[in-house]
Amino acid sequence: MGNCCGLRGNFPEILVRSIAESTYGRAKIFEKCSQDVARFYEINPLFRLLGYNMMITGRPKSDEIYAASLERLPGGVNSPVRAFKGFDMTPMIVQKGKGDTIWDVDGNAYIDYCLSWGALILGHAHPAIVTSACEQMQRGSSFGIATPYELFLADKINTYLPSMEKLRFVSSGSEATMSAIRLARGCTGRNTLIKFSGHYHGHSDCLLIQAGSGVTHLPKATSKGIPNSVIQDTVCLPFNDLSTCRSYIRSHPDIAAVILEPVAGNMGVVPAEQEFVCMLREETTACGALLIFDEVITGFRVGLRGAQERYQIKPDLTCLGKVIGGGYPVAAFGGRKEIMDLIAPLGAVYQGGTLSGNPVAMCAGLETLSHVEQEGFYEDLEKKTRLITDPIEHYLERNNVPALLTRIGSMFTLFFGVTEVRGKEDLSQMNEVKFKAFFQYLFERGIYAPPSAYEAWFVSSAHTEENLLYTLDTILTFLKKKDTEIT
Ligand SMILES: Cc1ncc(COP(=O)(O)O)c(C=O)c1O
Repeated sequence: MGNCCGLRGNFPEILVRSIAESTYGRAKIFEKCSQDVARFYEINPLFRLLGYNMMITGRPKSDEIYAASLERLPGGVNSPVRAFKGFDMTPMIVQKGKGDTIWDVDGNAYIDYCLSWGALILGHAHPAIVTSACEQMQRGSSFGIATPYELFLADKINTYLPSMEKLRFVSSGSEATMSAIRLARGCTGRNTLIKFSGHYHGHSDCLLIQAGSGVTHLPKATSKGIPNSVIQDTVCLPFNDLSTCRSYIRSHPDIAAVILEPVAGNMGVVPAEQEFVCMLREETTACGALLIFDEVITGFRVGLRGAQERYQIKPDLTCLGKVIGGGYPVAAFGGRKEIMDLIAPLGAVYQGGTLSGNPVAMCAGLETLSHVEQEGFYEDLEKKTRLITDPIEHYLERNNVPALLTRIGSMFTLFFGVTEVRGKEDLSQMNEVKFKAFFQYLFERGIYAPPSAYEAWFVSSAHTEENLLYTLDTILTFLKKKDTEIT
């Protein structure tokens, strides 16, 4: 692999080691040499015997910072999944990122497939985004006053997502979905919201629910601190279950909105079936409810025109986040003019924010979109992704491995223990123990996967072929191991 050493050819061990060490200024041992070197090792067991087994072996600074953080931050982190709960290891404490690689505070390098949960489609610290954000910082970082960049970014988004005739910028995906739902309720004068099991739309109260047992049962809050009165108007239905959902909507037409991730990314990648989305469009139109596409992940990720173009469906409202901010805190919700004009100051649905439309973030977003709109960008990104996913799919198929790889564009998930996933219900057999071993195996070899079995991997335009092939090689090696060999 080349993200740390970038080595090529048949290097003598001593040279490989000294280059690796001088690159990092420490006697860290990495198993990450280039593909060529890795292959050379395979055919030259002598080199392995020499002990050049470049594993990430220790993270003393990370351990220290994490221990101190536990005293000051609940769980040592500022968002739960960062804590590596259940992995029996100290969480990642990151120092810096560049391109497809992040470095922890101990100087270990990892190829990053989390990419700030999908936001960094151009990779870390892309020079043009850094320049554009820095230039704006010099002009002022926040005004709480309109700037031209909000209009420019809104125009750009509208060019590719014409269903967003008007939009409003907010600072997080949670804010976008929460506000879109308030707007849908304000617009229809109704309360009921339908969401789907396994879909995540942020942490606002009315959305933190799981289905009750059967569609007629009230949902349960997935967090303490949420009054029943808040969730009693949210119904959670099984994703991709066309007949159950259609009959529910027909028998309860007093619905304000249906919200979904058209390609679910928060239970692993699980795309909606075409007929399912078409049914939702037809039924919501028929009963006067709004259809909300939560494209916080899929917007500008699965393609320039989002999931809505893939499915050829025009939602009433769309929520965006992640990619549109290029790694800065930006999200948005938008839709038809007459709906959006119900928001304050024009209308009576209140929504606002001190940092909404923050100019630094707007400039970073504009710069990001100016790259992804280049011809061939998404084709190249998909090609890169398939360097990893195609061979894995073939391997699973040929060897009848009880696992499944799902992929849309540059996002994918490898599920262990299941061979078909249409919704959350299919994940009851998921082999989380195997995922834990998988995550640790990759981590020790300098590959940072999203730290949960229920998440999507993301590839950026900055991922090098060398690193993608190293990742593929490592995953295949893991898959070929017997369970008893995995430590
Ligand atoms: C589909 C979807 N919607 C909404 C959100 C919430 O976004 P944020 O974490 O920016 O609040 C997320 C977060 O991952 C998401 O994946």
